Amino acid sequence: MDAPDIKTPLPGPKAKAIIERDKQFVSPSYTRDYPFVIARGEGAVVEDVDGNHFLDCAAGIAVNSTGVSHPDVVKAICEQAANFIHMSGTDFYYEPQVRLAEELASIAPIDGPVRTFFGNSGTEATEAAIKLARYYTRRHGIIAFLGSFHGRSMGSLSLTASKVIQRRGFGPLLPGVYHARYPDPYRFKGSADECAGECLSYIRDQLFTQLIAPDEVAAIVVEPVQGEGGYIVPPAAFLQELRELTTEHGIVLVVDEVQSGMGRTGKMFASDHFGLRADVVNIAKGIASGLPLGVTCARADVMSWPPGAHASTFGGNPVSCAAATATIKLLKDTLVANAAAVGAHLVNGLRELQRKYALIGDVRGLGLMIGVELVRNRETKERAIDERNALVQSMFRRGVLVLGAGKNAIRIAPPLVLTTSQADSLLRVMDEALTEVTSPLRT
Ligand SMILES: Cc1ncc(COP(=O)(O)O)c(C=O)c1O
Repeated sequence: MDAPDIKTPLPGPKAKAIIERDKQFVSPSYTRDYPFVIARGEGAVVEDVDGNHFLDCAAGIAVNSTGVSHPDVVKAICEQAANFIHMSGTDFYYEPQVRLAEELASIAPIDGPVRTFFGNSGTEATEAAIKLARYYTRRHGIIAFLGSFHGRSMGSLSLTASKVIQRRGFGPLLPGVYHARYPDPYRFKGSADECAGECLSYIRDQLFTQLIAPDEVAAIVVEPVQGEGGYIVPPAAFLQELRELTTEHGIVLVVDEVQSGMGRTGKMFASDHFGLRADVVNIAKGIASGLPLGVTCARADVMSWPPGAHASTFGGNPVSCAAATATIKLLKDTLVANAAAVGAHLVNGLRELQRKYALIGDVRGLGLMIGVELVRNRETKERAIDERNALVQSMFRRGVLVLGAGKNAIRIAPPLVLTTSQADSLLRVMDEALTEVTSPLRT
């Protein structure tokens, strides 16, 4: 399938009809930025119900790691489904779950033996990590970061500090949760080391002295690249010093690789870019190429809870496990390397666009986890929120799917099968869309 290829005005008639039905029967809490209704896909190209082809640079929110319906993943799913679809790993044994746990133990960015808890989603992985850290340490406090996203169930929502709409009306949330600033080198006036130092000194010198004693903190939960908050890559010193701080105080370091893991950053995990070794690592999204699966990997001695302490009926569904094992093979064989190579190509192209358009304040990212932050003024860094929203719409009309991240960035998170020539199509469309959204500002 070639993309972009837009044949009808958007939305087309079939898309329109489905959206009307959705409006009546589906929860209104979802945020759809544009009227895209998928019919099928292949690799990094998706076709809508009216036959229009789009280049998919959102991947179902960074999930379709191997592209849409990769044949190897489909084969693994079909074979497993034909054998048995469900048995519940909470009460019975099955080999696909054990095989995946072994595989995860060999790739997770954790030193020493690793055990895995199986859930269905990122938020469940966060819930498991919160409970595990509390159980292991017998402490209650949790520290997370402003701008972070860890899920929307009540425990994980208490850590999430991304948008107020996600919390409004749902309080009170979990007690004992504190938030510190996440280091954003672009928005910090000073060096990367100073940026890291300021965020860490808030934890050490304020939180630990004024709000909660470190020996009451069970866990610090951190995204190694902040996802929903704007695809922000922190200074390496930040994660390394966070590791030292948690070790010093016997605090469990939980690294949320839900969005940044499974090859997205051009290494299997974002932690691998920083030499970061966690006590607990959460993985979901890209792990099973789109089937629901969320896992909490932990140092074997930390995952010490007894039978009955935590479980989920559907968690670690055998079909999802088979899809994950096939996904990991594809990632190892070619796709992690492809994400690194095509990601570097894309960042170069985006930096060229940055030279052409004052609207682009920052281009950042690792592999195919790339953020482009838009500003009205490069000196003041005033956030170009309306322009960002307009750019997302303009790219959609031109046949490229992207999503926003943070207040004024767009994220580029395509399937890891994206080719260099598809990356060039994305750059061409973005160039045209930038011309469209910036020209009114110049008049
Ligand atoms: C870093 C991170 N953690 C957790 C979650 C929650 O995952 P889910 O939506 O599968 O519950 C997300 C979702 O965007 C995420 O980006």
